[in-house]
Amino acid sequence: MCGIIGILGKSDVAPLIVQGLKRLEYRGYDSAGVATISKGNLDRRRAPGKIAALEALLEVRPLSGALGIGHTRWATHGAANETNAHPHATRRVALVHNGIIENFAELRRELIDKGYNFESETDTEVVAQLITYYLEAENMSAKEAFHAALKRVRGAFALAVLFIGEDDLLMGARRGSPLAIGRGDGEMFLGSDAYALAPFTNRVTYLDEGDWTVLTRHSIEIFDASGARVKRPETISSAADQMVDKDGHRHFMSKEIHEQPEVIAHTLSRYLDPATETVGLPKGAFDFASMDRLTISACGTAYYAGLISKYWFESWAGLPVEIDVASELRYRNVPYTKGGGALFVSQSGETADTLAALREARAHGQKIAAVVNVPESSIAREADVIFPMAAGPEIGVASTKAFTCQLTALACVAIAAARARGRIDEAEERRLVRALLEVPRLVAETLKHGAAIEEIAREIAKARDVLYIGRGVNFPLAMEGALKLKEISYIHAEGYAAGELKHGPIALIDKALPVIVIAPHDALYEKTISNMHEVMARGGKALLISDHEGVKTAGDGLWASIEVPTVEPMLAPIVYAAPIQMLAYYTATTKGTDVDQPRNLAKSVTVE
Ligand code: G6P
Repeated sequence: MCGIIGILGKSDVAPLIVQGLKRLEYRGYDSAGVATISKGNLDRRRAPGKIAALEALLEVRPLSGALGIGHTRWATHGAANETNAHPHATRRVALVHNGIIENFAELRRELIDKGYNFESETDTEVVAQLITYYLEAENMSAKEAFHAALKRVRGAFALAVLFIGEDDLLMGARRGSPLAIGRGDGEMFLGSDAYALAPFTNRVTYLDEGDWTVLTRHSIEIFDASGARVKRPETISSAADQMVDKDGHRHFMSKEIHEQPEVIAHTLSRYLDPATETVGLPKGAFDFASMDRLTISACGTAYYAGLISKYWFESWAGLPVEIDVASELRYRNVPYTKGGGALFVSQSGETADTLAALREARAHGQKIAAVVNVPESSIAREADVIFPMAAGPEIGVASTKAFTCQLTALACVAIAAARARGRIDEAEERRLVRALLEVPRLVAETLKHGAAIEEIAREIAKARDVLYIGRGVNFPLAMEGALKLKEISYIHAEGYAAGELKHGPIALIDKALPVIVIAPHDALYEKTISNMHEVMARGGKALLISDHEGVKTAGDGLWASIEVPTVEPMLAPIVYAAPIQMLAYYTATTKGTDVDQPRNLAKSVTVE
């Protein structure tokens, strides 16, 4: 999604803004731009495509000025061209925006009637024109005009605004989309997240929902939505230490796949006591013992992690689970129960639909828990209890290590819930804890199959469509496998419950269709293998992912197989995720697609 940078600096800021924008690239975007103010005058450069195109433009036509804003745009209203790229400017202001202005059409009509001309198709430009109207027609000060405009616009957004003629003034607002202030030494910064600010400062103040801010090089004023002056704490961000290089890998996605043994181990260490072989949860208002129903919701990959955990909560803890994608759950009339809990899963903690679903569940009296990777995120702040996942920053748009860390955290939570509800005894808890402690090693072993998987991926890269099938806990993993392949290789793929194959998708089987069968040697193995044989009997190419026993007993006629170490069956998705991710990764590298920033996708989807 869009990224925002604003700098009140000491010398020309355009190169620093570009540096900050590069750190926001991972969010996904399709055009970029910078505007600066120099001696009161505004100038800007904007370019469709990658930041490199903007840099090339700045090389030919540099921008001077010690005050500026920059933006990476993920198009929502209007194509990704130069005219629609931010910053948007009028004769009085320049502005960048992340999110959506829902009532833009109405405001645009109103302003056109008042004689204001629009140059772009964006919803954003309406805010720039509205501030201009308040400055000119209503003669307001910059601060008054910004606040008046904020009161008129509806939607979820973050904004940064420059005022022409003002060399020491930068304003920002946060409603729904994150925005942070960075304090330097005689310098001030605004950014979509602490990572973007990390090269400049580690002194970070997060705006709260509805806040807006007026910055100069030496002062920070923060106001809430009503206009009352408020104080927000300054924190020392650790984003600088965590940052971000590929560590010798060709892509962040490859690096992140290979980090999994380590980050899964870190996540486990937040929950497990290896000495006593028990699970502990963070303290908070989430009482699994008395809970009558758990509602789980998320988007994308995080949703599939939630779906796998449904099997765990049901079979280990005997806890009824309702699960839906957040974009549906938020608008359904869910009959929430009085003693219910709701659990939201999100890497970024900023996904607009997930946040809205959380608020909906809270409005219906549910206790709220969240599995989030970014501790300062909106979802983390609004939850009653946070179940941590220690994945570290995930830069590749296609989620990998965040997925397996979400699963790891959810497995621990489900085991603790099972104990709290008296559904498993101490011995079973110990057995499961021992099985979990083995997972990092098993993932590391699986990662050694890279070369073999790359070979298989060369064939997959030729396919037009791919099917993934699995049963039980491995059914959601089949859907996650299909999602990974779609996201980064642009090959159409579907994940199916193996038992559903004959109710439709089997009609697709021909010699050109690879079918990826996820079938550990567990209680459902034989059933899934029968489905695989139905595929092979119709000329389909079956790739079996299983353990030693599973590959050995699968019979003849396989196109290919990947052998994964034996793992406790319920935990298989955490280990089997690795070959699934590598298969998508190598298919994409074979095709030469943009692995870390696939077309049209955003890392953190802060619009509906
Ligand atoms: C986007 C990302 C996915 C992610 C989903 C949910 O679609 O590209 O990788 O799974 O959002 O994001 P969240 O941050 O809530 O986990």
